[in-house]
Amino acid sequence: MGIAISAALAAATRQLRAAGLAEPRREAELLLAARLGRNLAYLYAYREEILSAEAAAGYRDWVSRRCHGEPYAYLCGEREFMGLPFSVTPACLIPRPETELLVEAVVAELAAVSAPEILEVGTGSGAVAVALAVLVPDARVTATDISAPALSVAAGNAARHGVRERITFLSGDLYAPLAARNSSFTVLVSNPPYIPSGELAKLSRDISGYEPLAALDGGADGLHYYRRLTGELPALSCKPAFLALEVGKGQAGAVSTLCRGAGYEDVRLLRDLAGIERVVLARA
Ligand SMILES: C[S@@+](CC[C@H](N)C(=O)[O-])C[C@H]1O[C@@H](n2cnc3c(N)ncnc32)[C@H](O)[C@@H]1O
Repeated sequence: MGIAISAALAAATRQLRAAGLAEPRREAELLLAARLGRNLAYLYAYREEILSAEAAAGYRDWVSRRCHGEPYAYLCGEREFMGLPFSVTPACLIPRPETELLVEAVVAELAAVSAPEILEVGTGSGAVAVALAVLVPDARVTATDISAPALSVAAGNAARHGVRERITFLSGDLYAPLAARNSSFTVLVSNPPYIPSGELAKLSRDISGYEPLAALDGGADGLHYYRRLTGELPALSCKPAFLALEVGKGQAGAVSTLCRGAGYEDVRLLRDLAGIERVVLARA
């Protein structure tokens, strides 16, 4: 006998609660809506509809994986960022809401610049590069990542949002893919891995068990990539006019010092909604 939407939701809610999830009913609803390709209103309107055997089995699978910590975004393959839907896979970090501050800051800085050239290092899902290309329609973007699988997700997202032809994706370590190119960039934007290695084990299992280590591990003190991003700028044929870097809690001071050491004097810090200094902006 089939199971109705209301009964499937009730069973999933019990299972998710027993697994310790904070909002079990909400999660149960979101998972079922995504599984059915419907919105939440559909679940409320058709509470007694009987799920097909395939939908019921698929839903049970997702609920069980969610109970083990697999992030919702990887299960349904999607995450919204800057109001745009992005495909995500376990090859790339799930874009975070605080990273929207980084994008907004770059858009504001570029308001008076025509045809800016943007360099993003560590593009992951491409959320930052694609959102910037959408929001700054005369910009050209170069986006790099050391992970080829992540770049392929990013390229798909660029195509999905109609900006593929304005973004060049390059695979390799930091600035290495740019070595043979004589490009000059208006801005370097990056949200590099910044979790200190010793803190990785303390992350929730949703993160440590599923998101790529290469997107998280910032070395012994979390600052490894900021040292490299600022210290290796001479590898670029021309220094970017400004830098926009997302930072972890408590890192803004050290990263500001690194920016000044690289010749960027006008340094500003932006706080996220939690009051944490989250973005370092620096002008040459
Ligand atoms: C914190 S994630 C940011 C992803 C995306 N930009 C975002 O904000 O959601 C850092 C990204 O840097 C990439 N990365 C790590 N080491 C790298 C390196 N040496 N060179 C280039 N990219 C690197 C990772 O693969 C990952 O995609």
